[in-house]
Amino acid sequence: MDKKLIFSGIQPTGTFTLGNYIGAVRNWDKLQEEYNCIYCVVDMHAITVKQENEKFRFTRLNSYALLMACGIDIEKSILFIQSHVKTHAELNWLLCCNTQFGELSRMTQFKDKSQRHPDDVNAGLFTYPSLMAADILAYNADLVPVGIDQKQHLELARNIAQRFNQRYGDFFTLPEPYINEVGAKVMSLQEPTKKMSKSDENPNACILILDDKDTIIRKFKRAVTDSEAEVCYREGKDGINNLMTIYSVVTGKDLASVEREFAGKGYGDFKLAVGEAVADHLEPVRTEFARLSADKAFLKQCYTDGAEKALRYSQRVVSKAFHKVGFVDRT
Ligand code: TRP
Repeated sequence: MDKKLIFSGIQPTGTFTLGNYIGAVRNWDKLQEEYNCIYCVVDMHAITVKQENEKFRFTRLNSYALLMACGIDIEKSILFIQSHVKTHAELNWLLCCNTQFGELSRMTQFKDKSQRHPDDVNAGLFTYPSLMAADILAYNADLVPVGIDQKQHLELARNIAQRFNQRYGDFFTLPEPYINEVGAKVMSLQEPTKKMSKSDENPNACILILDDKDTIIRKFKRAVTDSEAEVCYREGKDGINNLMTIYSVVTGKDLASVEREFAGKGYGDFKLAVGEAVADHLEPVRTEFARLSADKAFLKQCYTDGAEKALRYSQRVVSKAFHKVGFVDRT
């Protein structure tokens, strides 16, 4: 049987946290074996909130290099930059004309973002979900990995596809959410009852995957623990539980053997060991990212190839969609 197609759009923020990495990014490797995968850096979505143009050009490229460094293999998957593939904007228009004002008004992300940026509630922000539907439907993707915050957008994409199919005859595949195998959840190093987040005001709360070894170790040394002195996984020991989970994921040891390894040792030793293990684990990502970032010509070749493949793929679908709606064919 043919492999199913996964489509995923990733915001060009240029960085991931250790939490993103452990929870999702490191599973990409496996995903690419089991499915056909298409990954897209969604730079057009990104400008629905203000971006500084020169910095944006740079982070967008960085994001592309980082995805490769994190294991997206361009021999197996298609990896491209959204704005390089015109079919997304074209299909977006058809879909916008099949999306209701009321539906878009109900999107919680739109409500949140317009509250946070009251001086710039632009039409792009409003129609964001229709462009996201276009990303997915242009490839007739079967599955879309989504976090809880994007579920409503995916449901809308399904509704738009369904409406289109009813109006013009069965055409679009209805995309399903792809639920990640639950990766371990990584908490803040400073407030271990909260999720690790890069928008945390305290920079010591969050490990970024491109942090250098010294920074990683320093942040772990400052991690909040408790007043006991026992490395064991137990309710109420949120800080230690979090560090043990992280250590267990990056070393592949189970929690019981981590307890044994640190029996009788203090938190200082433990935190240092976690810091070193994490830094070593992320070392290949940092090295590969540095190598790719220094080789602009190679990067360009990769994203140009990716865009060509994505265009070839999506053009077939999008041309047919235009035909269905009653446009005069161009060729
Ligand atoms: N909206 C998604 C996010 O903020 C990014 C995205 C854009 C996306 N297009 C997509 C995700 C298509 C999945 C499929 O994370």
